[in-house]
Amino acid sequence: QGWVVFGAAADWGAGRRGAAEGPAALRAAGLLEALGTAAEDRGDLPAPTPLPPAALVPAALVPAALAPSALARLRPEGPAHHLPRIAAWVRAIRAEAAAILASGRRPLLLGGDHSLPMGSVAASATAAAAAGRPLYLLWMDAHGDFNTPATSPSGNVHGMALAALCGEPGLGDLWGAPAPPPVAPSRLALLGVRDLDPGEARLLRARGAAVLGMDRLRAEGLAPLRRFLEEAVAAGGWLHVSLDVDVLDPTLMPGTGTPVPGGLSLEALAAALALVRGSGLLRALDLVELNPGLDPSGASARRAVALVAPLLATPALRDAA
Ligand code: ARG
Ligand code: MN
Ligand code: MN
Ligand code: MN
Repeated sequence: QGWVVFGAAADWGAGRRGAAEGPAALRAAGLLEALGTAAEDRGDLPAPTPLPPAALVPAALVPAALAPSALARLRPEGPAHHLPRIAAWVRAIRAEAAAILASGRRPLLLGGDHSLPMGSVAASATAAAAAGRPLYLLWMDAHGDFNTPATSPSGNVHGMALAALCGEPGLGDLWGAPAPPPVAPSRLALLGVRDLDPGEARLLRARGAAVLGMDRLRAEGLAPLRRFLEEAVAAGGWLHVSLDVDVLDPTLMPGTGTPVPGGLSLEALAAALALVRGSGLLRALDLVELNPGLDPSGASARRAVALVAPLLATPALRDAA
Protein backbone atom coordinates (compact mmCIF):
# COMPACT_ATOMS: atom_id res chain seq x y z
CA GLN A 1 0.00 0.00 0.00
CA GLY A 2 3.01 2.29 -0.02
CA TRP A 3 3.54 5.00 -2.59
CA VAL A 4 5.86 4.70 -5.54
CA VAL A 5 6.95 8.02 -7.03
CA PHE A 6 7.94 8.41 -10.65
CA GLY A 7 8.54 11.52 -12.73
CA ALA A 8 7.68 12.35 -16.32
CA ALA A 9 9.73 15.35 -17.38
CA ALA A 10 7.60 16.29 -20.37
CA ASP A 11 5.59 19.34 -21.33
CA TRP A 12 4.52 18.68 -24.91
CA GLY A 13 0.87 19.01 -23.93
CA ALA A 14 1.23 22.58 -22.70
CA GLY A 15 1.36 25.76 -24.73
CA ARG A 16 4.62 26.89 -23.10
CA ARG A 17 7.65 24.92 -22.05
CA GLY A 18 8.79 24.53 -18.45
CA ALA A 19 6.50 22.00 -16.74
CA ALA A 20 9.13 19.38 -17.64
CA GLU A 21 11.22 20.85 -14.81
CA GLY A 22 8.48 19.93 -12.35
CA PRO A 23 9.79 16.57 -11.11
CA ALA A 24 13.26 17.96 -10.34
CA ALA A 25 11.79 20.99 -8.57
CA LEU A 26 9.45 18.86 -6.47
CA ARG A 27 12.31 16.62 -5.38
CA ALA A 28 14.51 19.66 -4.65
CA ALA A 29 11.68 21.06 -2.52
CA GLY A 30 11.81 17.95 -0.34
CA LEU A 31 9.00 15.77 -1.66
CA LEU A 32 10.72 12.48 -0.88
CA GLU A 33 11.73 13.57 2.59
CA ALA A 34 8.14 14.63 3.21
CA LEU A 35 6.86 11.25 2.11
CA GLY A 36 9.18 9.40 4.44
CA THR A 37 10.80 6.03 4.14
CA ALA A 38 7.63 4.18 3.11
CA ALA A 39 7.75 5.76 -0.34
CA GLU A 40 10.02 4.54 -3.12
CA ASP A 41 11.36 6.91 -5.78
CA ARG A 42 11.80 5.33 -9.20
CA GLY A 43 13.30 8.51 -10.65
CA ASP A 44 12.18 9.90 -13.98
CA LEU A 45 11.03 7.79 -16.90
CA PRO A 46 13.39 7.89 -19.87
CA ALA A 47 12.05 9.98 -22.76
CA PRO A 48 10.30 7.57 -25.11
CA THR A 49 10.59 7.63 -28.89
CA PRO A 50 7.68 9.51 -30.51
CA LEU A 51 5.18 7.21 -32.18
CA PRO A 52 4.93 7.37 -35.96
CA PRO A 53 1.89 9.58 -36.69
CA ALA A 54 0.26 6.77 -38.64
CA ALA A 55 0.08 4.70 -35.46
CA LEU A 56 -2.30 7.26 -34.00
CA VAL A 57 -4.91 7.00 -36.70
CA PRO A 58 -7.48 4.56 -35.37
CA ALA A 59 -8.02 1.69 -37.76
CA ALA A 60 -11.75 2.32 -37.67
CA LEU A 61 -11.17 5.77 -39.15
CA VAL A 62 -9.08 4.75 -42.11
CA PRO A 63 -11.73 3.59 -44.59
CA ALA A 64 -11.04 4.27 -48.22
CA ALA A 65 -13.27 7.33 -48.41
CA LEU A 66 -11.79 9.37 -45.57
CA ALA A 67 -13.10 12.91 -45.87
CA PRO A 68 -10.41 15.61 -46.08
CA SER A 69 -11.85 17.34 -43.00
CA ALA A 70 -11.48 14.15 -40.97
CA LEU A 71 -7.91 13.83 -42.15
CA ALA A 72 -7.22 17.37 -41.01
CA ARG A 73 -8.50 16.58 -37.54
CA LEU A 74 -6.23 13.57 -37.29
CA ARG A 75 -3.09 15.34 -38.41
CA PRO A 76 -1.01 15.22 -35.24
CA GLU A 77 0.86 18.52 -35.41
CA GLY A 78 -2.32 20.33 -36.39
CA PRO A 79 -5.02 20.82 -33.80
CA ALA A 80 -3.52 18.42 -31.27
CA HIS A 81 0.04 19.66 -30.96
CA HIS A 82 2.87 17.15 -30.52
CA LEU A 83 0.50 14.18 -30.35
CA PRO A 84 3.06 11.53 -31.46
CA ARG A 85 5.37 12.50 -28.60
CA ILE A 86 2.55 12.76 -26.08
CA ALA A 87 1.15 9.37 -27.05
CA ALA A 88 4.55 7.78 -26.46
CA TRP A 89 4.75 9.35 -23.00
CA VAL A 90 1.18 8.32 -22.20
CA ARG A 91 1.91 4.71 -23.07
CA ALA A 92 5.12 4.66 -21.02
CA ILE A 93 3.35 6.22 -18.03
CA ARG A 94 0.45 3.83 -18.33
CA ALA A 95 2.84 0.86 -18.27
CA GLU A 96 4.72 2.17 -15.23
CA ALA A 97 1.56 2.98 -13.26
CA ALA A 98 0.04 -0.37 -14.17
CA ALA A 99 3.12 -2.21 -12.87
CA ILE A 100 3.00 -0.27 -9.61
CA LEU A 101 -0.70 -1.00 -9.14
CA ALA A 102 -0.14 -4.67 -9.98
CA SER A 103 2.44 -4.84 -7.19
CA GLY A 104 -0.22 -3.66 -4.75
CA ARG A 105 1.26 -0.20 -4.32
CA ARG A 106 0.12 3.28 -5.27
CA PRO A 107 1.56 5.36 -8.11
CA LEU A 108 2.37 9.04 -7.65
CA LEU A 109 3.06 10.64 -11.03
CA LEU A 110 5.10 13.83 -10.96
CA GLY A 111 4.53 15.95 -14.06
CA GLY A 112 4.98 17.39 -16.37
CA ASP A 113 1.86 18.80 -17.95
CA HIS A 114 -1.69 17.56 -17.56
CA SER A 115 -1.74 15.48 -20.75
CA LEU A 116 0.42 12.86 -18.99
CA PRO A 117 -2.33 11.60 -16.66
CA MET A 118 -3.95 10.12 -19.75
CA GLY A 119 -1.44 7.37 -18.98
CA SER A 120 -1.84 7.08 -15.21
CA VAL A 121 -5.64 7.31 -15.22
CA ALA A 122 -5.75 4.70 -17.99
CA ALA A 123 -3.79 2.40 -15.70
CA SER A 124 -6.16 3.08 -12.82
CA ALA A 125 -9.21 2.47 -15.00
CA THR A 126 -7.83 -0.81 -16.25
CA ALA A 127 -6.80 -2.02 -12.79
CA ALA A 128 -10.09 -1.01 -11.19
CA ALA A 129 -12.05 -2.83 -13.86
CA ALA A 130 -9.90 -5.94 -13.38
CA ALA A 131 -10.61 -5.76 -9.63
CA GLY A 132 -14.32 -5.32 -10.26
CA ARG A 133 -14.33 -1.84 -8.68
CA PRO A 134 -15.86 1.31 -10.14
CA LEU A 135 -13.23 3.98 -10.73
CA TYR A 136 -13.94 7.45 -9.36
CA LEU A 137 -11.87 10.32 -10.70
CA LEU A 138 -11.38 13.67 -8.99
CA TRP A 139 -9.87 16.29 -11.34
CA MET A 140 -8.68 19.30 -9.33
CA ASP A 141 -8.10 22.10 -11.79
CA ALA A 142 -8.87 25.68 -12.77
CA HIS A 143 -9.72 24.21 -16.18
CA GLY A 144 -12.01 21.52 -17.49
CA ASP A 145 -9.44 19.88 -19.79
CA PHE A 146 -12.54 18.70 -21.65
CA ASN A 147 -11.76 19.98 -25.12
CA THR A 148 -11.39 17.78 -28.16
CA PRO A 149 -9.29 18.73 -31.18
CA ALA A 150 -12.56 19.97 -32.66
CA THR A 151 -13.39 22.35 -29.77
CA SER A 152 -9.93 23.35 -28.53
CA PRO A 153 -9.07 27.01 -29.05
CA SER A 154 -5.37 26.29 -28.48
CA GLY A 155 -4.61 22.86 -29.87
CA ASN A 156 -2.79 22.10 -26.60
CA VAL A 157 -3.40 18.51 -25.57
CA HIS A 158 -3.32 19.19 -21.82
CA GLY A 159 -6.66 20.90 -22.37
CA MET A 160 -8.08 17.69 -23.92
CA ALA A 161 -6.89 15.01 -21.50
CA LEU A 162 -10.01 14.55 -19.43
CA ALA A 163 -12.31 14.40 -22.45
CA ALA A 164 -10.13 11.74 -24.03
CA LEU A 165 -10.17 9.72 -20.79
CA CYS A 166 -13.98 9.88 -20.86
CA GLY A 167 -13.97 8.40 -24.34
CA GLU A 168 -14.44 11.52 -26.46
CA PRO A 169 -12.90 10.96 -29.87
CA GLY A 170 -10.25 12.98 -31.66
CA LEU A 171 -6.85 11.90 -30.34
CA GLY A 172 -6.68 8.76 -32.41
CA ASP A 173 -5.38 5.48 -31.09
CA LEU A 174 -3.60 7.15 -28.22
CA TRP A 175 -3.22 4.17 -25.88
CA GLY A 176 -2.79 1.32 -28.33
CA ALA A 177 -4.28 -2.01 -27.36
CA PRO A 178 -5.94 -2.73 -25.10
CA ALA A 179 -7.78 0.58 -24.92
CA PRO A 180 -8.56 1.47 -21.30
CA PRO A 181 -12.20 1.49 -20.19
CA PRO A 182 -13.44 5.07 -20.43
CA VAL A 183 -13.98 7.04 -17.24
CA ALA A 184 -17.72 7.32 -16.53
CA PRO A 185 -18.76 10.99 -16.31
CA SER A 186 -21.17 9.94 -13.52
CA ARG A 187 -18.13 8.98 -11.42
CA LEU A 188 -16.13 12.10 -12.25
CA ALA A 189 -15.92 15.34 -10.29
CA LEU A 190 -14.05 18.48 -11.28
CA LEU A 191 -13.07 20.70 -8.38
CA GLY A 192 -12.01 24.34 -8.51
CA VAL A 193 -12.93 24.97 -12.13
CA ARG A 194 -13.27 28.60 -13.22
CA ASP A 195 -12.14 28.70 -16.85
CA LEU A 196 -14.08 26.66 -19.39
CA ASP A 197 -13.97 27.20 -23.15
CA PRO A 198 -17.46 27.30 -24.72
CA GLY A 199 -17.15 23.98 -26.55
CA GLU A 200 -15.85 22.05 -23.56
CA ALA A 201 -18.49 23.61 -21.30
CA ARG A 202 -21.22 22.31 -23.61
CA LEU A 203 -19.62 18.88 -23.78
CA LEU A 204 -19.19 18.65 -20.02
CA ARG A 205 -22.82 19.62 -19.48
CA ALA A 206 -24.00 17.08 -22.05
CA ARG A 207 -22.01 14.31 -20.35
CA GLY A 208 -23.33 15.23 -16.90
CA ALA A 209 -20.06 15.30 -14.96
CA ALA A 210 -20.15 17.03 -11.55
CA VAL A 211 -18.51 20.42 -12.02
CA LEU A 212 -17.74 21.74 -8.55
CA GLY A 213 -16.56 25.10 -9.80
CA MET A 214 -15.44 28.02 -7.69
CA ASP A 215 -18.96 29.47 -7.78
CA ARG A 216 -20.40 26.31 -6.23
CA LEU A 217 -17.57 26.05 -3.72
CA ARG A 218 -18.27 29.59 -2.56
CA ALA A 219 -21.97 28.78 -2.18
CA GLU A 220 -21.80 25.27 -0.73
CA GLY A 221 -18.26 24.80 0.55
CA LEU A 222 -16.92 21.26 0.36
CA ALA A 223 -20.30 19.56 0.90
CA PRO A 224 -20.57 18.44 -2.76
CA LEU A 225 -17.09 16.91 -2.58
CA ARG A 226 -18.05 15.14 0.64
CA ARG A 227 -21.11 13.68 -1.10
CA PHE A 228 -19.03 12.56 -4.08
CA LEU A 229 -16.61 10.73 -1.79
CA GLU A 230 -19.43 9.19 0.25
CA GLU A 231 -20.94 7.85 -2.93
CA ALA A 232 -17.57 6.38 -3.92
CA VAL A 233 -17.25 4.72 -0.52
CA ALA A 234 -20.77 3.31 -0.72
CA ALA A 235 -20.04 1.93 -4.19
CA GLY A 236 -16.80 0.26 -3.08
CA GLY A 237 -14.92 2.43 -5.52
CA TRP A 238 -11.30 3.18 -6.22
CA LEU A 239 -10.26 6.82 -6.32
CA HIS A 240 -7.73 8.50 -8.59
CA VAL A 241 -6.94 12.16 -7.91
CA SER A 242 -5.38 14.29 -10.63
CA LEU A 243 -4.10 17.50 -9.08
CA ASP A 244 -3.30 20.37 -11.43
CA VAL A 245 -1.54 22.94 -9.25
CA ASP A 246 -3.31 25.76 -11.09
CA VAL A 247 -6.39 24.91 -9.01
CA LEU A 248 -4.76 27.18 -6.40
CA ASP A 249 -5.08 30.91 -6.67
CA PRO A 250 -2.18 32.32 -8.73
CA THR A 251 -1.12 34.55 -5.83
CA LEU A 252 -0.27 31.30 -4.02
CA MET A 253 0.86 29.29 -7.04
CA PRO A 254 2.54 31.59 -9.57
CA GLY A 255 4.67 28.71 -10.86
CA THR A 256 2.23 27.32 -13.38
CA GLY A 257 1.73 27.91 -17.09
CA THR A 258 -1.99 28.71 -17.34
CA PRO A 259 -2.88 30.62 -14.15
CA VAL A 260 -6.48 31.75 -13.61
CA PRO A 261 -7.46 34.26 -10.90
CA GLY A 262 -10.01 33.40 -8.25
CA GLY A 263 -8.70 30.00 -7.24
CA LEU A 264 -8.59 27.92 -4.08
CA SER A 265 -6.88 29.07 -0.92
CA LEU A 266 -4.27 26.84 0.69
CA GLU A 267 -6.73 26.11 3.48
CA ALA A 268 -9.53 25.09 1.12
CA LEU A 269 -7.29 22.78 -0.89
CA ALA A 270 -5.83 21.25 2.27
CA ALA A 271 -9.36 20.63 3.56
CA ALA A 272 -10.38 19.01 0.27
CA LEU A 273 -7.30 16.78 0.34
CA ALA A 274 -8.03 15.85 3.96
CA LEU A 275 -11.47 14.64 2.87
CA VAL A 276 -9.81 12.60 0.13
CA ARG A 277 -7.41 11.04 2.59
CA GLY A 278 -10.20 10.37 5.05
CA SER A 279 -12.16 8.47 2.43
CA GLY A 280 -9.55 5.72 2.49
CA LEU A 281 -10.08 5.20 -1.24
CA LEU A 282 -7.08 6.94 -2.79
CA ARG A 283 -5.19 4.57 -5.08
CA ALA A 284 -3.29 6.94 -7.35
CA LEU A 285 -2.29 10.58 -7.54
CA ASP A 286 -0.97 12.90 -10.24
CA LEU A 287 0.81 16.13 -9.32
CA VAL A 288 1.09 18.16 -12.50
CA GLU A 289 1.55 21.56 -14.16
CA LEU A 290 4.16 22.95 -11.79
CA ASN A 291 6.33 25.20 -13.96
CA PRO A 292 9.12 26.15 -11.57
CA GLY A 293 10.82 28.60 -13.92
CA LEU A 294 7.81 30.89 -13.56
CA ASP A 295 8.42 31.18 -9.81
CA PRO A 296 12.12 31.76 -9.11
CA SER A 297 11.35 32.10 -5.38
CA GLY A 298 10.66 28.36 -5.21
CA ALA A 299 7.53 28.93 -3.11
CA SER A 300 5.27 27.22 -5.64
CA ALA A 301 7.19 23.94 -5.43
CA ARG A 302 7.37 24.11 -1.63
CA ARG A 303 3.62 24.69 -1.39
CA ALA A 304 2.87 21.79 -3.70
CA VAL A 305 5.00 19.50 -1.51
CA ALA A 306 3.45 20.77 1.72
CA LEU A 307 -0.06 20.18 0.36
CA VAL A 308 0.37 16.63 -0.85
CA ALA A 309 2.60 15.32 1.96
CA PRO A 310 -0.22 14.84 4.51
CA LEU A 311 -2.37 13.28 1.81
CA LEU A 312 0.23 10.61 1.21
CA ALA A 313 1.04 9.80 4.80
CA THR A 314 -0.07 6.21 4.39
CA PRO A 315 -3.45 5.58 5.98
CA ALA A 316 -4.84 2.10 5.81
CA LEU A 317 -6.86 1.75 2.67
CA ARG A 318 -10.48 1.08 3.44
CA ASP A 319 -10.26 -2.10 1.42
CA ALA A 320 -6.80 -3.51 1.01
CA ALA A 321 -7.96 -6.07 -1.53
N1 ARG B 1 -8.75 25.41 -21.89
C1 ARG B 1 -7.46 25.81 -22.34
C2 ARG B 1 -7.05 24.99 -23.57
O1 ARG B 1 -7.72 24.09 -23.96
C3 ARG B 1 -6.44 25.71 -21.24
C4 ARG B 1 -6.19 24.32 -20.74
C5 ARG B 1 -5.20 24.31 -19.61
N2 ARG B 1 -4.99 22.99 -19.11
C6 ARG B 1 -4.14 22.67 -18.12
N3 ARG B 1 -4.05 21.41 -17.80
N4 ARG B 1 -3.43 23.58 -17.49
O2 ARG B 1 -6.04 25.26 -24.14
MN1 MN C 1 3.10 23.36 -29.86
MN1 MN D 1 -5.34 20.58 -16.06
MN1 MN E 1 -5.34 23.70 -15.28
